[in-house]
Amino acid sequence: MKSVVVGSGGREHALSHVLKRDSDVIVTPGNPGIPNSKNISPLEIDADLFVIGPEAPLVAGIADKLRAQGKLVFGPGADGAQLEGSKAWMKDLLVEANVPTAKHGTFTEEEPAIAFLREMPLPYVIKTDGLAAGKGVLVTHSLQEAESAIRNYLSGEAFGNAGKKIVIEEGMSGNEISILAICDGEKAVALSPAQDYKRLLDNDEGPNTGGMGAYSPVPGVSEKFVQKIMKEAIQPTLRTLIQRGIDYRGVLYAGIMHTKNGPKILEYNVRFGDPEAQVVLPRIKTSLFELLFEAASGDLQTTPEFIKEVLVTVVCASEGYPQAPQTGKIITGIEEARNISGIEEVFCAGVATNEHNELITNGGRVIAVTGKGSTHVRAKEIAYAGAEKISWEGLYKRKDIAGAGQ
Ligand code: AMP
Ligand code: GLY
Repeated sequence: MKSVVVGSGGREHALSHVLKRDSDVIVTPGNPGIPNSKNISPLEIDADLFVIGPEAPLVAGIADKLRAQGKLVFGPGADGAQLEGSKAWMKDLLVEANVPTAKHGTFTEEEPAIAFLREMPLPYVIKTDGLAAGKGVLVTHSLQEAESAIRNYLSGEAFGNAGKKIVIEEGMSGNEISILAICDGEKAVALSPAQDYKRLLDNDEGPNTGGMGAYSPVPGVSEKFVQKIMKEAIQPTLRTLIQRGIDYRGVLYAGIMHTKNGPKILEYNVRFGDPEAQVVLPRIKTSLFELLFEAASGDLQTTPEFIKEVLVTVVCASEGYPQAPQTGKIITGIEEARNISGIEEVFCAGVATNEHNELITNGGRVIAVTGKGSTHVRAKEIAYAGAEKISWEGLYKRKDIAGAGQ
């Protein structure tokens, strides 16, 4: 069997790392740190299964184009991808599906937006409607900062067209958890929950990032809780998508906040989380190829099983991330990290090669080192032992990934 993974980041490295257990994998375009990367359009390749990694091509309709060629695709069409491509569309669908989520308003004009903001409980939460590379969400206690963000978003100054429509939400608080469901259009099965670390600095301080580390499973998140999310969020969402004529075959990633009034959906993503994929996917004991193949075929039969071991991933990022990452620094230590017993893999994201064919940094999040251990403490030790081997000028990593829940 042959599979094609579309994308070029750590998530796509993780997808190919697990898919290659039972298929030949090509990653397109991939990157110099991912084996079998080929800079060729997926429209020009034949394979048994196409798995789309990132949200932007999904929102742009790559799955539709591939399906029009008769290919089997894991990933929603442009219609379903609106769940991530438009926060306003997603929030409306959640309300229609009666899925618990923060109260919200959608605005294109400053005055009503600010009036609504002032009525909302703290913290103030402002989101771009469109895609903004994970940077379009502001959570703040400062009214001044919130009002100035509204102006900068709506004027187009901050995020171009993506911010000319905004969603303002009721501020909530509580622990966050990521649950990823594999969907075949009608049925869905959950993968093992993951804990992501969104903030840049230790103790969850600093700006929001794409994610600085993750672990799975999550102590305290029971199978019962996962099934509650499937019943109260994922399944009603799929039913509502069907009512809108949308056949959603792909992963539905629910970002959940455990508030004092119960779990609420913060957001949906239409792709695997990054770096959640680097801990969730390798824990799948059953065949990932078969699972995604069945979902893409609209015929989910497999119930995934997971290994007992814990996986922890630590992201190594460039100096200046997330605002202005410095790039072009020579990376060393990847093989030394891989040689440590218990290292699942060193996943490569923002990497390139220089004229001497050396691996250099080429983005904000550069590498994610995943360690496997019998406990959270052990997996954390292994992941950090691996991450300590990786080096380049200005490398930054959090020190407290998997510090909780041990
Ligand atoms: P999102 O991309 O919508 O998940 O937002 C990014 C992050 O902002 C989330 O992981 C939360 O930490 C925070 N956030 C989003 N919405 C809210 C909300 N309504 N209340 C409090 N924090 C939020
Ligand atoms: N780690 C968060 C995300 O993938 O959106």
